Amino acid sequence: MSSSEQARKTAEGLAYLSGFGNEHSSEAVPGALPVGRNSPQRAPLGLYAEQLSGSAFTEPRTANRRSWLYRIRPSAAHPRFTRIDNGGLRGAPFTETVPDPNRLRWDPRPEPAAGTDFLDGLWTLGGNGDATQRTGMAIHLYAADTAMTDRVFSDADGELLIVPEDGGLLLHTEFGLLRAEPGEVALIPRGVRFRVDLLDETARGYVCENYGAPFTLPDLGPIGANGLANARDFLAPVAAYEDVERPVRAVNKFCGNLWAATLDHSPLDVVAWHGNHVPYVYDLRRFNVLGSISYDHPDPSIFTVLTSPSDTPGLAGVDFVVFAPRWLVGEDTFRPPYFHRNVMSEYMGLIEGAYDAKAEGFVPGGGSLHNMMSAHGPDRDTFEKASAAELAPQKVDDGLAFMFETRWPVTLTAQAEAAEHVQDDYDDVWQGLERHFRP
Ligand SMILES: [Fe+2]
Repeated sequence: MSSSEQARKTAEGLAYLSGFGNEHSSEAVPGALPVGRNSPQRAPLGLYAEQLSGSAFTEPRTANRRSWLYRIRPSAAHPRFTRIDNGGLRGAPFTETVPDPNRLRWDPRPEPAAGTDFLDGLWTLGGNGDATQRTGMAIHLYAADTAMTDRVFSDADGELLIVPEDGGLLLHTEFGLLRAEPGEVALIPRGVRFRVDLLDETARGYVCENYGAPFTLPDLGPIGANGLANARDFLAPVAAYEDVERPVRAVNKFCGNLWAATLDHSPLDVVAWHGNHVPYVYDLRRFNVLGSISYDHPDPSIFTVLTSPSDTPGLAGVDFVVFAPRWLVGEDTFRPPYFHRNVMSEYMGLIEGAYDAKAEGFVPGGGSLHNMMSAHGPDRDTFEKASAAELAPQKVDDGLAFMFETRWPVTLTAQAEAAEHVQDDYDDVWQGLERHFRP
Protein backbone atom coordinates (compact mmCIF):
# COMPACT_ATOMS: atom_id res chain seq x y z
CA MET A 1 0.00 0.00 0.00
CA SER A 2 1.43 3.39 -0.97
CA SER A 3 1.93 6.10 1.61
CA SER A 4 -1.02 8.10 0.26
CA GLU A 5 -3.29 5.03 0.24
CA GLN A 6 -2.30 4.34 3.83
CA ALA A 7 -3.04 7.97 4.73
CA ARG A 8 -6.40 7.84 2.99
CA LYS A 9 -7.31 4.70 4.95
CA THR A 10 -6.36 6.47 8.21
CA ALA A 11 -8.40 9.51 7.18
CA GLU A 12 -11.58 7.52 6.61
CA GLY A 13 -14.04 8.02 9.40
CA LEU A 14 -12.03 10.43 11.52
CA ALA A 15 -14.04 11.69 14.50
CA TYR A 16 -14.23 15.41 15.25
CA LEU A 17 -15.37 17.84 17.92
CA SER A 18 -17.72 20.49 16.59
CA GLY A 19 -17.90 24.23 17.23
CA PHE A 20 -15.75 27.31 16.68
CA GLY A 21 -13.91 28.61 19.75
CA ASN A 22 -15.33 25.98 22.06
CA GLU A 23 -13.70 24.78 25.25
CA HIS A 24 -13.16 21.27 23.89
CA SER A 25 -11.77 18.25 25.71
CA SER A 26 -10.64 14.86 24.45
CA GLU A 27 -8.73 11.83 25.63
CA ALA A 28 -7.29 9.01 23.52
CA VAL A 29 -7.04 6.75 26.58
CA PRO A 30 -9.85 6.73 29.14
CA GLY A 31 -8.82 8.47 32.34
CA ALA A 32 -5.94 10.42 30.76
CA LEU A 33 -7.66 13.78 31.28
CA PRO A 34 -7.58 15.11 34.85
CA VAL A 35 -10.98 16.03 36.24
CA GLY A 36 -11.57 19.26 38.12
CA ARG A 37 -8.03 20.63 37.84
CA ASN A 38 -5.41 21.27 35.18
CA SER A 39 -2.19 20.37 36.91
CA PRO A 40 -2.65 17.71 39.59
CA GLN A 41 0.31 16.69 41.74
CA ARG A 42 0.62 13.62 39.53
CA ALA A 43 -1.15 13.78 36.19
CA PRO A 44 -3.12 10.62 35.27
CA LEU A 45 -1.35 7.64 33.70
CA GLY A 46 2.10 9.12 34.32
CA LEU A 47 1.57 11.84 31.73
CA TYR A 48 3.10 15.32 31.89
CA ALA A 49 0.75 18.31 32.09
CA GLU A 50 1.67 21.30 29.93
CA GLN A 51 -0.13 24.51 29.04
CA LEU A 52 0.09 25.99 25.54
CA SER A 53 -0.88 29.67 25.59
CA GLY A 54 -2.09 31.32 22.39
CA SER A 55 -2.85 34.62 24.12
CA ALA A 56 -1.29 36.48 27.02
CA PHE A 57 -2.51 35.04 30.32
CA THR A 58 -4.31 38.28 31.05
CA GLU A 59 -6.17 38.97 27.82
CA PRO A 60 -9.96 39.35 28.17
CA ARG A 61 -11.95 36.17 28.31
CA THR A 62 -13.29 36.66 24.77
CA ALA A 63 -9.73 36.75 23.40
CA ASN A 64 -8.11 34.31 25.83
CA ARG A 65 -6.77 31.14 24.24
CA ARG A 66 -4.94 28.30 25.83
CA SER A 67 -4.98 24.52 25.90
CA TRP A 68 -3.76 21.99 28.44
CA LEU A 69 -1.91 19.02 26.99
CA TYR A 70 -1.28 15.70 28.76
CA ARG A 71 1.66 14.09 27.05
CA ILE A 72 4.20 11.29 27.28
CA ARG A 73 7.09 13.76 27.54
CA PRO A 74 6.96 17.52 28.09
CA SER A 75 7.86 19.74 25.13
CA ALA A 76 10.73 21.11 27.21
CA ALA A 77 12.63 17.83 26.72
CA HIS A 78 14.53 18.90 23.63
CA PRO A 79 18.15 19.68 22.73
CA ARG A 80 19.34 23.02 21.37
CA PHE A 81 17.73 24.35 18.18
CA THR A 82 20.07 25.35 15.36
CA ARG A 83 19.38 27.25 12.14
CA ILE A 84 18.57 25.27 9.03
CA ASP A 85 18.10 26.47 5.47
CA ASN A 86 14.87 28.44 5.00
CA GLY A 87 14.26 26.91 1.57
CA GLY A 88 11.52 28.87 -0.14
CA LEU A 89 10.15 30.32 3.10
CA ARG A 90 10.52 34.02 3.88
CA GLY A 91 9.28 36.04 6.83
CA ALA A 92 8.15 39.52 7.74
CA PRO A 93 9.38 42.20 7.52
CA PHE A 94 9.57 41.76 3.75
CA THR A 95 12.41 43.90 2.46
CA GLU A 96 13.75 42.03 -0.57
CA THR A 97 11.80 44.13 -3.08
CA VAL A 98 10.19 47.55 -3.41
CA PRO A 99 6.40 47.39 -2.86
CA ASP A 100 4.81 47.24 -6.31
CA PRO A 101 1.63 49.18 -7.20
CA ASN A 102 1.08 47.08 -10.31
CA ARG A 103 -1.63 44.47 -10.64
CA LEU A 104 0.09 41.14 -10.66
CA ARG A 105 -0.92 37.62 -11.55
CA TRP A 106 0.82 34.27 -11.46
CA ASP A 107 0.25 30.92 -13.13
CA PRO A 108 0.42 27.86 -10.88
CA ARG A 109 3.83 27.01 -9.55
CA PRO A 110 5.93 24.46 -11.44
CA GLU A 111 5.82 20.84 -10.26
CA PRO A 112 7.91 20.24 -7.13
CA ALA A 113 11.12 18.27 -7.35
CA ALA A 114 10.58 14.60 -6.50
CA GLY A 115 10.77 13.96 -2.77
CA THR A 116 9.40 17.37 -1.70
CA ASP A 117 7.29 17.31 1.44
CA PHE A 118 4.85 19.98 2.65
CA LEU A 119 7.50 21.90 4.59
CA ASP A 120 10.11 21.80 1.82
CA GLY A 121 7.35 22.71 -0.63
CA LEU A 122 6.42 26.00 1.06
CA TRP A 123 7.25 29.02 -1.09
CA THR A 124 6.59 32.55 0.07
CA LEU A 125 4.98 35.01 -2.33
CA GLY A 126 5.03 38.02 -0.04
CA GLY A 127 3.44 39.65 2.94
CA ASN A 128 3.50 42.55 5.33
CA GLY A 129 3.95 43.50 8.96
CA ASP A 130 6.61 42.18 11.26
CA ALA A 131 6.68 38.74 12.83
CA THR A 132 8.59 40.08 15.83
CA GLN A 133 5.75 42.55 16.46
CA ARG A 134 3.02 39.95 15.79
CA THR A 135 1.50 42.10 13.06
CA GLY A 136 0.76 41.39 9.44
CA MET A 137 0.58 38.29 7.31
CA ALA A 138 2.39 36.26 4.72
CA ILE A 139 1.14 34.48 1.61
CA HIS A 140 2.73 31.13 0.88
CA LEU A 141 2.06 28.46 -1.70
CA TYR A 142 2.91 24.81 -1.29
CA ALA A 143 3.48 21.94 -3.64
CA ALA A 144 4.50 18.50 -2.43
CA ASP A 145 4.67 14.89 -3.53
CA THR A 146 5.96 13.25 -0.36
CA ALA A 147 4.74 12.81 3.20
CA MET A 148 6.66 14.44 6.04
CA THR A 149 8.52 11.56 7.62
CA ASP A 150 10.11 11.73 11.06
CA ARG A 151 9.84 15.46 11.19
CA VAL A 152 7.25 17.88 12.47
CA PHE A 153 6.76 21.59 11.95
CA SER A 154 5.50 24.41 14.14
CA ASP A 155 5.24 28.13 13.58
CA ALA A 156 5.95 30.48 16.48
CA ASP A 157 5.33 33.45 14.18
CA GLY A 158 1.65 32.89 13.57
CA GLU A 159 -1.21 30.61 12.73
CA LEU A 160 -1.36 28.82 9.39
CA LEU A 161 -4.54 28.78 7.34
CA ILE A 162 -4.01 26.02 4.79
CA VAL A 163 -6.13 26.09 1.62
CA PRO A 164 -5.69 22.88 -0.41
CA GLU A 165 -6.27 23.32 -4.12
CA ASP A 166 -5.09 19.98 -5.51
CA GLY A 167 -4.78 16.80 -3.46
CA GLY A 168 -5.95 16.15 0.08
CA LEU A 169 -3.89 16.45 3.25
CA LEU A 170 -3.88 14.41 6.44
CA LEU A 171 -2.61 16.62 9.23
CA HIS A 172 -1.17 14.86 12.26
CA THR A 173 -1.21 17.48 15.00
CA GLU A 174 -0.49 17.47 18.71
CA PHE A 175 -4.28 17.54 19.18
CA GLY A 176 -5.07 14.68 16.79
CA LEU A 177 -5.75 14.14 13.10
CA LEU A 178 -7.44 16.42 10.60
CA ARG A 179 -8.33 15.70 7.01
CA ALA A 180 -8.37 18.62 4.58
CA GLU A 181 -9.43 18.09 0.97
CA PRO A 182 -9.67 20.76 -1.75
CA GLY A 183 -12.71 22.87 -0.88
CA GLU A 184 -11.90 22.59 2.82
CA VAL A 185 -9.46 24.68 4.84
CA ALA A 186 -7.37 23.75 7.88
CA LEU A 187 -6.04 26.00 10.58
CA ILE A 188 -2.96 25.20 12.67
CA PRO A 189 -2.70 27.60 15.64
CA ARG A 190 0.51 29.39 16.53
CA GLY A 191 3.06 27.01 18.03
CA VAL A 192 1.19 23.76 17.44
CA ARG A 193 3.33 20.95 16.05
CA PHE A 194 2.14 18.95 13.08
CA ARG A 195 3.22 16.87 10.15
CA VAL A 196 1.52 16.42 6.81
CA ASP A 197 0.68 13.20 4.99
CA LEU A 198 -0.63 13.35 1.44
CA LEU A 199 -3.96 11.73 0.56
CA ASP A 200 -3.11 11.77 -3.14
CA GLU A 201 0.06 11.44 -5.20
CA THR A 202 0.66 15.19 -5.09
CA ALA A 203 -0.64 18.16 -3.12
CA ARG A 204 -0.79 21.83 -3.95
CA GLY A 205 -2.38 24.85 -2.35
CA TYR A 206 -2.13 28.12 -0.51
CA VAL A 207 -1.25 29.16 3.05
CA CYS A 208 -2.09 32.38 4.85
CA GLU A 209 0.30 32.87 7.75
CA ASN A 210 -1.36 35.25 10.16
CA TYR A 211 1.03 37.00 12.52
CA GLY A 212 -1.72 39.04 14.17
CA ALA A 213 -4.73 38.28 16.33
CA PRO A 214 -6.04 34.76 15.76
CA PHE A 215 -8.72 34.34 13.12
CA THR A 216 -12.21 34.53 14.51
CA LEU A 217 -15.70 34.58 13.05
CA PRO A 218 -16.87 38.02 11.91
CA ASP A 219 -19.67 39.73 13.80
CA LEU A 220 -22.99 39.41 12.01
CA GLY A 221 -24.72 42.68 12.99
CA PRO A 222 -28.17 42.97 11.40
CA ILE A 223 -27.66 39.62 9.62
CA GLY A 224 -28.65 38.06 12.91
CA ALA A 225 -27.63 35.00 14.84
CA ASN A 226 -26.93 32.72 11.87
CA GLY A 227 -25.24 32.83 8.53
CA LEU A 228 -21.91 33.12 6.73
CA ALA A 229 -19.65 30.48 8.33
CA ASN A 230 -21.67 28.81 11.07
CA ALA A 231 -19.76 27.99 14.25
CA ARG A 232 -20.89 24.38 14.43
CA ASP A 233 -19.24 23.54 11.10
CA PHE A 234 -15.73 24.09 12.44
CA LEU A 235 -14.28 20.73 13.41
CA ALA A 236 -11.45 20.12 15.87
CA PRO A 237 -9.67 16.77 16.16
CA VAL A 238 -10.08 14.20 18.89
CA ALA A 239 -6.95 13.28 20.84
CA ALA A 240 -4.64 10.84 19.07
CA TYR A 241 -0.99 10.27 19.91
CA GLU A 242 2.13 8.72 18.48
CA ASP A 243 4.24 6.58 20.80
CA VAL A 244 7.38 6.74 18.69
CA GLU A 245 10.86 6.27 20.16
CA ARG A 246 13.20 7.17 17.33
CA PRO A 247 14.83 10.40 16.16
CA VAL A 248 12.26 12.96 15.03
CA ARG A 249 13.27 16.35 13.71
CA ALA A 250 11.28 19.26 15.16
CA VAL A 251 11.40 22.27 12.84
CA ASN A 252 10.32 25.61 14.26
CA LYS A 253 9.73 28.80 12.32
CA PHE A 254 10.80 31.61 14.60
CA CYS A 255 10.90 35.28 13.56
CA GLY A 256 11.13 34.33 9.91
CA ASN A 257 13.79 31.64 10.07
CA LEU A 258 13.71 27.88 10.39
CA TRP A 259 15.35 26.24 13.38
CA ALA A 260 15.54 22.53 14.07
CA ALA A 261 16.32 20.13 16.88
CA THR A 262 16.37 16.35 16.81
CA LEU A 263 14.29 14.73 19.54
CA ASP A 264 14.57 11.08 20.52
CA HIS A 265 10.80 10.69 20.26
CA SER A 266 7.81 12.06 18.42
CA PRO A 267 6.42 15.20 20.04
CA LEU A 268 2.98 14.28 18.71
CA ASP A 269 2.60 12.38 21.97
CA VAL A 270 -0.40 14.16 23.50
CA VAL A 271 -2.73 11.53 24.98
CA ALA A 272 -5.39 13.96 26.21
CA TRP A 273 -6.07 17.66 26.02
CA HIS A 274 -8.61 20.34 26.74
CA GLY A 275 -8.86 23.98 25.77
CA ASN A 276 -9.72 26.46 23.04
CA HIS A 277 -6.33 26.92 21.31
CA VAL A 278 -6.93 24.10 18.86
CA PRO A 279 -6.54 23.26 15.19
CA TYR A 280 -9.63 22.86 13.05
CA VAL A 281 -10.98 22.20 9.58
CA TYR A 282 -13.88 23.87 7.81
CA ASP A 283 -15.66 22.87 4.62
CA LEU A 284 -16.10 25.99 2.47
CA ARG A 285 -19.14 24.37 0.81
CA ARG A 286 -20.95 24.85 4.11
CA PHE A 287 -20.54 28.63 3.88
CA ASN A 288 -23.96 30.27 3.96
CA VAL A 289 -23.60 32.80 1.16
CA LEU A 290 -25.63 35.96 1.67
CA GLY A 291 -26.15 38.68 -0.90
CA SER A 292 -28.52 41.18 -2.41
CA ILE A 293 -32.06 40.15 -3.27
CA SER A 294 -32.96 43.55 -4.69
CA TYR A 295 -30.22 45.43 -6.52
CA ASP A 296 -26.46 46.10 -6.50
CA HIS A 297 -23.55 43.89 -5.67
CA PRO A 298 -22.72 43.93 -1.94
CA ASP A 299 -19.14 44.56 -0.90
CA PRO A 300 -17.28 41.24 -0.81
CA SER A 301 -16.89 41.54 2.96
CA ILE A 302 -20.26 39.75 2.97
CA PHE A 303 -18.24 36.64 2.00
CA THR A 304 -15.85 36.78 5.00
CA VAL A 305 -15.24 33.36 6.52
CA LEU A 306 -12.67 34.35 9.14
CA THR A 307 -11.22 37.66 10.24
CA SER A 308 -8.14 38.66 12.20
CA PRO A 309 -9.25 41.81 14.01
CA SER A 310 -6.99 44.74 14.80
CA ASP A 311 -7.22 47.45 17.45
CA THR A 312 -9.41 49.47 15.05
CA PRO A 313 -12.97 48.11 14.87
CA GLY A 314 -13.75 46.70 11.43
CA LEU A 315 -10.16 46.97 10.20
CA ALA A 316 -8.76 43.47 9.82
CA GLY A 317 -5.11 42.52 9.79
CA VAL A 318 -6.31 39.92 7.31
CA ASP A 319 -9.67 38.55 6.23
CA PHE A 320 -10.22 35.19 4.63
CA VAL A 321 -13.01 35.53 2.08
CA VAL A 322 -14.59 32.86 -0.12
CA PHE A 323 -16.50 33.28 -3.39
CA ALA A 324 -18.69 30.21 -3.12
CA PRO A 325 -21.52 29.08 -5.42
CA ARG A 326 -24.47 31.45 -5.13
CA TRP A 327 -27.45 32.91 -6.93
CA LEU A 328 -27.38 36.34 -8.51
CA VAL A 329 -30.80 37.92 -8.76
CA GLY A 330 -30.12 41.69 -8.64
CA GLU A 331 -32.38 43.80 -10.84
CA ASP A 332 -30.86 46.59 -12.95
CA THR A 333 -27.50 45.56 -11.58
CA PHE A 334 -24.05 44.97 -12.98
CA ARG A 335 -23.68 41.59 -11.36
CA PRO A 336 -19.98 40.69 -11.49
CA PRO A 337 -17.66 42.36 -8.95
CA TYR A 338 -17.59 46.07 -9.73
CA PHE A 339 -14.60 48.16 -10.76
CA HIS A 340 -12.90 49.47 -7.68
CA ARG A 341 -9.85 50.76 -5.87
CA ASN A 342 -9.40 49.57 -2.32
CA VAL A 343 -7.29 50.73 0.61
CA MET A 344 -7.05 47.06 1.54
CA SER A 345 -4.75 44.77 -0.45
CA GLU A 346 -6.21 41.70 -2.08
CA TYR A 347 -4.56 38.40 -2.90
CA MET A 348 -6.88 36.03 -4.74
CA GLY A 349 -6.50 32.34 -5.41
CA LEU A 350 -8.66 29.79 -7.16
CA ILE A 351 -9.45 26.37 -5.72
CA GLU A 352 -11.46 25.06 -8.64
CA GLY A 353 -13.27 26.13 -11.79
CA ALA A 354 -13.37 29.75 -12.92
CA TYR A 355 -14.02 33.11 -11.29
CA ASP A 356 -16.92 35.22 -12.50
CA ALA A 357 -14.94 38.44 -13.00
CA LYS A 358 -12.14 36.91 -15.05
CA ALA A 359 -12.92 35.03 -18.21
CA GLU A 360 -9.42 33.57 -18.60
CA GLY A 361 -5.87 33.57 -17.26
CA PHE A 362 -6.87 33.09 -13.63
CA VAL A 363 -6.57 29.36 -13.07
CA PRO A 364 -6.63 26.99 -10.08
CA GLY A 365 -3.27 27.10 -8.30
CA GLY A 366 -2.52 30.55 -9.69
CA GLY A 367 -3.15 33.83 -7.96
CA SER A 368 -3.49 37.56 -8.36
CA LEU A 369 -2.43 40.49 -6.22
CA HIS A 370 -4.19 43.84 -6.27
CA ASN A 371 -2.22 45.96 -3.87
CA MET A 372 -3.50 49.01 -1.98
CA MET A 373 -5.39 51.40 -4.31
CA SER A 374 -4.61 49.49 -7.48
CA ALA A 375 -7.56 49.74 -9.87
CA HIS A 376 -9.16 46.47 -10.86
CA GLY A 377 -12.43 44.80 -11.70
CA PRO A 378 -13.93 42.66 -14.41
CA ASP A 379 -11.95 42.10 -17.55
CA ARG A 380 -13.14 43.48 -20.88
CA ASP A 381 -15.00 40.36 -21.99
CA THR A 382 -16.74 39.96 -18.65
CA PHE A 383 -17.77 43.63 -18.65
CA GLU A 384 -19.22 43.49 -22.15
CA LYS A 385 -21.10 40.28 -21.43
CA ALA A 386 -22.48 41.37 -18.05
CA SER A 387 -23.55 44.78 -19.36
CA ALA A 388 -25.65 43.14 -22.06
CA ALA A 389 -26.88 40.08 -20.19
CA GLU A 390 -30.55 39.46 -19.61
CA LEU A 391 -31.00 39.68 -15.84
CA ALA A 392 -32.74 36.41 -15.13
CA PRO A 393 -31.85 34.70 -11.84
CA GLN A 394 -28.45 33.16 -12.39
CA LYS A 395 -26.59 30.48 -10.47
CA VAL A 396 -22.86 31.12 -10.23
CA ASP A 397 -21.52 27.67 -9.50
CA ASP A 398 -18.57 27.09 -11.77
CA GLY A 399 -15.78 27.80 -9.32
CA LEU A 400 -14.47 28.35 -5.82
CA ALA A 401 -12.23 31.38 -5.43
CA PHE A 402 -10.93 32.94 -2.23
CA MET A 403 -9.17 36.07 -1.07
CA PHE A 404 -6.66 36.96 1.62
CA GLU A 405 -7.48 40.65 2.14
CA THR A 406 -5.11 42.63 4.32
CA ARG A 407 -4.92 46.15 5.71
CA TRP A 408 -1.31 46.62 4.59
CA PRO A 409 0.24 46.41 1.12
CA VAL A 410 1.84 43.10 0.24
CA THR A 411 5.54 43.31 -0.56
CA LEU A 412 6.75 40.50 -2.78
CA THR A 413 9.65 38.22 -2.11
CA ALA A 414 12.45 38.33 -4.66
CA GLN A 415 11.48 34.84 -5.82
CA ALA A 416 7.87 35.90 -6.49
CA GLU A 417 8.95 39.03 -8.36
CA ALA A 418 11.36 37.08 -10.55
CA ALA A 419 9.26 33.92 -10.89
CA GLU A 420 8.97 32.44 -14.35
CA HIS A 421 5.28 31.85 -13.73
CA VAL A 422 4.47 35.54 -13.25
CA GLN A 423 2.25 36.80 -16.10
CA ASP A 424 3.78 39.74 -17.95
CA ASP A 425 0.58 40.66 -19.75
CA TYR A 426 -1.94 40.89 -16.88
CA ASP A 427 -2.67 44.58 -17.58
CA ASP A 428 -3.97 43.58 -21.00
CA VAL A 429 -7.21 42.17 -19.56
CA TRP A 430 -8.33 45.76 -18.99
CA GLN A 431 -7.20 46.97 -22.40
CA GLY A 432 -9.85 47.74 -24.98
CA LEU A 433 -12.48 48.80 -22.45
CA GLU A 434 -14.15 51.12 -24.91
CA ARG A 435 -15.36 54.65 -24.47
CA HIS A 436 -19.15 54.70 -24.52
CA PHE A 437 -19.68 58.29 -23.30
CA ARG A 438 -20.75 60.46 -26.21
CA PRO A 439 -22.26 63.71 -24.85
FE1 LIG B 1 -10.99 43.73 -5.39
